[in-house]
Amino acid sequence: VHIAIIGKGKVGSALGARLASAGHEVAYGSRTPEDHTGSVSQTDAVQGAELVIIAIPGTAVLSTLEGIGEDVLADRIVLDVSAAFTPDLALAYPNDSVARRVQARFPRARVVKSLNTMNVSIMVDPLASLSQATVFVSGENQDAKAAVKGLLADLGWTTESILDLGGVASATATEHAAPLFFATYTALQTMRFNIAITR
Ligand SMILES: NC(=O)c1ccc[n+]([C@@H]2O[C@H](COP(=O)([O-])OP(=O)(O)OC[C@H]3O[C@@H](n4cnc5c(N)ncnc54)[C@H](OP(=O)(O)O)[C@@H]3O)[C@@H](O)[C@H]2O)c1
Repeated sequence: VHIAIIGKGKVGSALGARLASAGHEVAYGSRTPEDHTGSVSQTDAVQGAELVIIAIPGTAVLSTLEGIGEDVLADRIVLDVSAAFTPDLALAYPNDSVARRVQARFPRARVVKSLNTMNVSIMVDPLASLSQATVFVSGENQDAKAAVKGLLADLGWTTESILDLGGVASATATEHAAPLFFATYTALQTMRFNIAITR
C-alpha cells in the first residue's frame, strides 16, 4: 500500500519504519519538509498515497487537513491515530471526537480511528511484553477498515486482538479513554500497558 504519514514525530516515525519494513511504500508529509530529510510537503505525500496516517496533535488535525484540501483527500483512507487535548491535558472535544469531525468535514474521505488508546511502543509491538492486548477500530467504510486491519496485522496485531466497534461515532468512546490512559500511567509509572477486553 502507498502510505502517507502526516507528522514524523514519535508515532509517525515508529509506524512508518514498521510499515516500510513490512513492504509498504511510505512517504512522510511535513509542514517544513526542508528541515526534515526524507519528508515532502503534506500535500505531495497525500497525493501519491491510498492511505493517509494522521500522526499530529489532535487539535491540529482539522486545520492541517483543510490545508491539504478536500479534493486531495477525496477517496483516500484516513487513519487517524490522534488524541486531542487542551493545554492542561483535558479532552479538547468532550462528547465528540477528532475522527467524527474529520469524517463530517471531509465526507469523501474514508476515516478510520485506531491505535489511539495506547503508547507508541505498544502500537508497533503489541504482544512483545503483554499477554493480551486490544486495538479498537472505528469507521463508516468497511473496505477502509479492512485495509487498516491489514496494516494492524503488519504491526503485529492478531485477528483476535482487533475489536471493530462499528461506525465513526464510536471513536468518541476510544478518544475518551485518554484520561484512563493517563491515570493508569500515573499509577504504574510506565506506558508499556494496554487495554485488553476479555469476556
Ligand atoms: N506518543 C504516543 O505514544 C501516542 C499514543 C497515542 C496517540 N498519540 C497521538 O498521536 C499523535 C502524534 O503523537 P506524537 O507523540 O508522534 O507527537 P510528536 O512526537 O509531538 O509529533 C507530532 C508531529 O506533528 C507535527 N505537528 C506538531 N504540531 C503541529 C501543528 N500544530 N500542526 C500540524 N502539525 C504539527 C510535527 O511534524 P512536522 O513538524 O514535521 O510537520 C510533529 O513531528 C498525537 O495526536 C498524539 O496525541 C501519541
